[in-house]
Amino acid sequence: MAGFISDEDIAKVREATDLVGYIGETTPMRQKGRDFWCCCPLHGEKTPSFKVDPTTQLWHCFGCGEGGDAFGYVMKTEDLTFPEAVRKLAERAHIDIAEAPGRGPSVSSNKKSRLKAVCEETASFYHLQLMRGKTDGAARARSYLGGRNLGGPVPNAWNLGYAPGSGSLVRHLYSKGFTNQEMLEANVATTGRYGKVRDRFFDRVMFPIRDVAGETIAFGGRIMGQGEPKYLNSQETPVFHKSQVLYGLDKAKAAMASTGVAIVVEGYTDVIACHQAGLTNVVATLGTALTRQHIRLLSRHAKTAIVYLFDGDAAGQRAADRALQFIDSSMTPEGARTPIELRAVTLPDNLDPAEFLEQRGVDELRQVIDGARQLLRYGIDRRLEKHDLGRAEGRSRAMADALNVLAPIKDSLLAQQYAIEIASMTRMPEQQALDALAKLKPPSTRPHDDDLGSAGLGVGGQSAAPAAVPAVDVTQLPESEINRRRCERKLICLAAMNPQLALGHASALAATNWHGRVNGMLAEAVLDALVDDPSATPAAIVTRATQTVPSAGGMLTDTALDPGVTPEDMMAFLEEELAMGDVQDTIDGIKAQLRDSQGVSPQDQDELFQMATLLQKDLEARRARRRSV
Ligand code: UTP
Ligand code: MN
Repeated sequence: MAGFISDEDIAKVREATDLVGYIGETTPMRQKGRDFWCCCPLHGEKTPSFKVDPTTQLWHCFGCGEGGDAFGYVMKTEDLTFPEAVRKLAERAHIDIAEAPGRGPSVSSNKKSRLKAVCEETASFYHLQLMRGKTDGAARARSYLGGRNLGGPVPNAWNLGYAPGSGSLVRHLYSKGFTNQEMLEANVATTGRYGKVRDRFFDRVMFPIRDVAGETIAFGGRIMGQGEPKYLNSQETPVFHKSQVLYGLDKAKAAMASTGVAIVVEGYTDVIACHQAGLTNVVATLGTALTRQHIRLLSRHAKTAIVYLFDGDAAGQRAADRALQFIDSSMTPEGARTPIELRAVTLPDNLDPAEFLEQRGVDELRQVIDGARQLLRYGIDRRLEKHDLGRAEGRSRAMADALNVLAPIKDSLLAQQYAIEIASMTRMPEQQALDALAKLKPPSTRPHDDDLGSAGLGVGGQSAAPAAVPAVDVTQLPESEINRRRCERKLICLAAMNPQLALGHASALAATNWHGRVNGMLAEAVLDALVDDPSATPAAIVTRATQTVPSAGGMLTDTALDPGVTPEDMMAFLEEELAMGDVQDTIDGIKAQLRDSQGVSPQDQDELFQMATLLQKDLEARRARRRSV
């Protein structure tokens, strides 16, 4: 990330540098309380608003809003690049920087590789139990898999296993030299009553989850027969972020590269069945919806298209509706920045891919996949199918419903073409369709809405220059939205400045629906820094975040905690605030669906209504609890 300078060297230089002393060489500083203050060396001013915190070694100017770590300071004041700034401070501190890229494992990658080693050892243990176990449970697991067409070569090829539970894994890992802490952090163990460390998985068939490089990082465990949860999955860990991992990608990436196409299904067993049948460019999400990060990850391997294969059941159909959120301006010729095309298809007759293969074979599945339609068209067709086109009112509703799919790209030529097509398919006047299209509102409360446009599905978008993304005009946002984003920013600053605290809240941070695009990027950078090094300092986090958001220094150091509030309390408060906001978003979404009830079956309406009621109750209870503290 910094030319050829290793993270260790960067850390060494950081530790050897005293920012107060360094700045003090050119600008007089005065201590007020804990912090040091001076007139900002970056912008002319008469009263000091430039602050350096000697503990974190971070600076912030309340006048111009800039901020960052020591390297950022040198970069800004001397107009240097990051490696140049590191070298300059290294020289000052008499530290030799190794110029060669040859580098030993850093502390952080050490930690990560320990956790992966826990997972690897766990997978081997479970696998051995499955293959050789003498217990009834192991025998049941073997016949369960055999009965599901997952016997023969499958357990070896996918390293499937059996988790006996009862502390056997914990004992095994202990004998291999792993600590309780490591087992807990890798989430293969949990703490039971009285703080005893126990196996997390008990009497389940185990599917090891590997990262793109084939290293085991997590597990999915299926119950044999009925029971809840059907699949118990690893929670987020420093090496496992669900929203960024796809099951089977390590095995599928070669075929994706050679065919240009990635196929996404819903289940572990679907992936295995497809690969066994010779469709080897198939991956699955891990019980979550497809995310933009997934799409970015896939587009690194498949250059032409991503085909989303939805189950025919109700859950699959909900997933299909969610996928329509990926419709954005990158799909229009005007906005196309990326050649990757999203396609979708629903499997017929309530089948999932594994069942389809079993009943109809791989050739028919290939035909289904070949018949996948562009996501826009898929969305439009889905909407049209829900209505009775034989009746006038059905046709007019169908048109309105289908046009809605075009909302995110309403101003494009492509949207107009589709609108005309929709008019003809519903036998409605063209002009009426075009007028209705013009009146559509682009969705605005959707998470990451400001992430659309050029950054949308950008290939490798994570490293794309964020400056190229048109900023949303925040002043146009409703007040509640502005508040929401402020809370988000506050939470992220707090996390960046209190890394240990952030680590404890990592899953919640990862699960937050960031409304502000930059907030999402900042949060991701904070999490990434902690993944690389769970003991990362605030300064290290700022350095990291600056790589993706150049102005991160100023943003993350802009913290002022109200006196008397601990970071812990503030964190908990903000987290709850955002979580309640997410619930409110969901309720609003449901209400909107109910209002616009065409296309929703009466039974679904019922379910939606009940869900909204439950959520509303939950929200009120949470608000009441909050008022009472
Ligand atoms: P399905 O319920 O379709 O499971 O969920 P499946 O893959 O067909 O599994 P089998 O065939 O019944 O064994 C699809 C995916 O959703 C996630 C899993 O990743 C699963 O593969 N899931 C499902 C969970 O994470 N937890 C659950 O309780 C259920
Ligand atoms: Mn399924």
